[in-house]
Amino acid sequence: MAATYFITGAHGCIGSWIVKALVERGDDAVVFDRSDDPRRLRAIMDPDQLATVRFVLGDITDGAVVQRALAFSQATRVIHLAGLQVPICKADPIGGAMVNVVGTLNVFEAARSLSINNVVYASSAAVYGLNDDDAVLDETAKAYLARASLPFARRLIAAMRAGEAAGGDKRGKQSAALLIHGSEEWSDLDLRVDDHTDPLAELERLEQVSRERWVHFRPFLPTRQNPAGITDRKIIDTSIEAANAGKT
Ligand SMILES: NC(=O)c1ccc[n+]([C@@H]2O[C@H](COP(=O)([O-])OP(=O)(O)OC[C@H]3O[C@@H](n4cnc5c(N)ncnc54)[C@H](O)[C@@H]3O)[C@@H](O)[C@H]2O)c1
Repeated sequence: MAATYFITGAHGCIGSWIVKALVERGDDAVVFDRSDDPRRLRAIMDPDQLATVRFVLGDITDGAVVQRALAFSQATRVIHLAGLQVPICKADPIGGAMVNVVGTLNVFEAARSLSINNVVYASSAAVYGLNDDDAVLDETAKAYLARASLPFARRLIAAMRAGEAAGGDKRGKQSAALLIHGSEEWSDLDLRVDDHTDPLAELERLEQVSRERWVHFRPFLPTRQNPAGITDRKIIDTSIEAANAGKT
């Protein structure tokens, strides 16, 4: 039997996909969001499907508004996703707490007072922390300090490897990245691996590939001192060849 879901923050990244999934399986969705921007939902749902969705414009920091909207929706289930993420909370901690803490309590209170027992909300993987002890960070730092003779990129990867061997990130391992900046606006090296079974090994491979041409090509890009950079292909190729010939 179809159920009615009250979904806060459903114009967002996760909520819009939940709305789509609910409608596709025949449930009713009521979107409660302080944004009325339907772009995400329009991008992923058919107009016919979208027409079945009810929309309520409101702010979860206002308990009375949440209470009224939830009662009016006649929903029996709540999915709470309205929230502010790190950059916004960092810039405005009080505003962040109002939405993420007080707003969440408002949703819980409204559900409790209407005897709605089915409430689901999204937390953050960060609540699990990096690890139970300091071993990962300690081993990472130790390996970094012990490998001062390595080129910087390889030194960082070695440190990550040591952290991984000490237990790694207990939230799982799927991604790895290396972003190195010098004094210029452009990064010296920017390598990212995602959705990989062995991300550190892949990062290591990419770093090796970067040493074939990229790190030798990089100095010819525009700099603050020389905004035009060096574009003469002959100079660049000769330098790359010389660098590679000098490798042991
Ligand atoms: N996206 C992720 O990878 C991820 C991972 C873990 C947890 N989460 C959590 O899941 C929840 C949803 O994440 P998301 O990525 O869909 O976020 P999002 O930023 O894409 O969407 C949040 C939605 O909440 C709405 N909103 C913000 N403040 C509101 C308020 N005061 N009243 C009503 N609506 C408000 C915004 O308009 C937006 O539509 C958040 O709590 C987030 O912290 C997200």
